Amino acid sequence: MTPSRPLLLGVNIDHAATLRQARYRGAHPSPHAEPDVVAFTREALAGGADGITLHLREDRRHIQDADVHAIAALPGVRLNLEMACTPAMNAFARKLKPAAVCLVPESREEVTTEGGLDVAGQLARVKETTHVLKAAGIEVSLFIGPDAHQIEAAVAVGAPVIELHTGAFANAWKSPAAAAELERLRAGCELAHRLGLIVNAGHGINYDNIRAILTLPHLHELNIGHSIVARALFTGIRGAVAEMKGRLKPSA
Ligand code: PXP
Repeated sequence: MTPSRPLLLGVNIDHAATLRQARYRGAHPSPHAEPDVVAFTREALAGGADGITLHLREDRRHIQDADVHAIAALPGVRLNLEMACTPAMNAFARKLKPAAVCLVPESREEVTTEGGLDVAGQLARVKETTHVLKAAGIEVSLFIGPDAHQIEAAVAVGAPVIELHTGAFANAWKSPAAAAELERLRAGCELAHRLGLIVNAGHGINYDNIRAILTLPHLHELNIGHSIVARALFTGIRGAVAEMKGRLKPSA
């Protein structure tokens, strides 16, 4: 079923920062460091990004604190901050007040077999973080696998939004296992929608497998990073985002 309205596109810019960090390390990179991640973000917005997603990792592997603050200050940006469920990141988010926070796993103990956040295995912790962030006016999303147990746990902790992990499907794309992974995502979308959750999706989505992702019901937003940033090396980020936006249109 093709959705009747275009999905929103959140552009994950982490890999622009990965490229910068490959040469310029440290929390305060030189003003000459390339690429300029803020200028890159402006261009992504000019290409039609509905939101900007970035992951401030505890190890500061790619995005730095200064990037988050500079991007949050861009006019009209809808920021989705991916972060670990830790007291330090919780405090950071409450101060920053992005439009949305997506809680993602960073340590091995927090990861389910799907690779998503193990919400069911740490209900109290995720519930407390969700509550505190919601009280600060931030929309909270949980990055989870398409597993009924985890979707029900997302409802139990009071999260209004989930982002279904599409990595297993993306890894299986063009193999015999892809159809089953897509059906698992479809069942996850249907269950989450029935339970009143807003359903986003992301990880490993590209210009090709997006065709299959678009057959999933009830999707609200896709978060796509690597494939768009990779294409930007050839086309520029504005064109790469515009092309992906074109693929999200119902008639495309
Ligand atoms: N959504 C979440 C929660 C992620 O952690 C990532 C990867 O940073 C993405 C979406 C984007 O994945 P990709 O870079 O493979 O498009």
